[in-house]
Amino acid sequence: MPTTKADLPTPALLIDLDAFEANIRHIFSQCRAAGVSLRPHAKTHKCVEIGRRLMAAGAVGISTATVAEAEAMVRGGIKGVLLTSPIVEANKIDRMLALVERDPTVMLSIGHKLELDRLAARAAETHRTVNVLIDLDVGDRRTGVFPGEAALELAQAVKASGNVKLRGLQAYAGHSSHVKGYDERVKSSQTAVGKAVETRKLLERHGFDVPILSVGSTGTYDIDSRIAGVSDLQCGSFLFMDNHYRMIGGRGSAVYEDFKPSLFVLTTVISSAHTDRVTVDAGIKAVSTCVQAVPEPKDRPGLHHKWTGDEFGIITADAGVALPKLGDRLEFIVPHCDPTVNLYDRVHACRGDNVEAVWTISARRETPLV
Ligand SMILES: Cc1ncc(COP(=O)(O)O)c(C=O)c1O
Repeated sequence: MPTTKADLPTPALLIDLDAFEANIRHIFSQCRAAGVSLRPHAKTHKCVEIGRRLMAAGAVGISTATVAEAEAMVRGGIKGVLLTSPIVEANKIDRMLALVERDPTVMLSIGHKLELDRLAARAAETHRTVNVLIDLDVGDRRTGVFPGEAALELAQAVKASGNVKLRGLQAYAGHSSHVKGYDERVKSSQTAVGKAVETRKLLERHGFDVPILSVGSTGTYDIDSRIAGVSDLQCGSFLFMDNHYRMIGGRGSAVYEDFKPSLFVLTTVISSAHTDRVTVDAGIKAVSTCVQAVPEPKDRPGLHHKWTGDEFGIITADAGVALPKLGDRLEFIVPHCDPTVNLYDRVHACRGDNVEAVWTISARRETPLV
């Protein structure tokens, strides 16, 4: 195993453990103060080692976006795994039911009667009972049933199914997470989460026990955790942060700095023939380009990255700032953390320049590596 960053072949994915641990401490202290639980989202890291660290820090479980993520976390011994995405395919339903068999604390989320019918039918055939949250569409227009009467109807269908048990609601407001400006974000998230809280009350008035209402994103963690009726947060990006999130602005600040960037792509300057630029070995295969934010050189003000192809990036410098030299190493804060992690099989957990551990990104494939 490489023992220092200098030993690593580039491009390489790094975690700065000091910043990563500070981010975990910060979100848990906010959750504890607000009296809500955290079921952090593994879509960000897809890594069992990280899931275990979050459980050790006090998470009530781990949220997952894919069946492979759920499989990796359950096989890694993590309890309270929630699949937040809908599934309608028989293969995925059977894989989730196999996880339920192994660990009854696994939960699925459902947002349509057809999902329920397929799940209930397979659960009945295999004599299993499965816990679910109802997924609400509170404005994201992506997945889930509408809040209010439509959700109540689905809850009644769950009750009638017999072997599918309702544990609560999930309401991810993706349209609120990156709203620029704190005050605007408060308005957007309170409106969205308010619909979920009202739905929780409606179900309770109709006799349902609704212990869980899971909401939240990194951009709204401190807004949502203060809303009465919310029981869990399911934030993910807070672990790593990225430039897309930093641009949304914080409470009274242009840059959102509640969490520190802890994920970096390490690169090497591999060409310096020109006076106005150098080339590094990180292009679009090494850093996800899915958002407008750009990779930002860490601790190197005045240097800028420009995409120049699959394997390469161009570095330019402001007037008066020296360009890096051939063979120099540069680290970049990434534009978007989740899809960047998804490009790598391993992440190097570093303390300063030392590589303390190498963690497998276990669930980046359709079936996990563990
Ligand atoms: C369903 C769901 N929950 C939670 C999250 C976590 O959001 P964030 O990474 O912004 O904290 C996401 C992110 O896309 C999501 O899709």
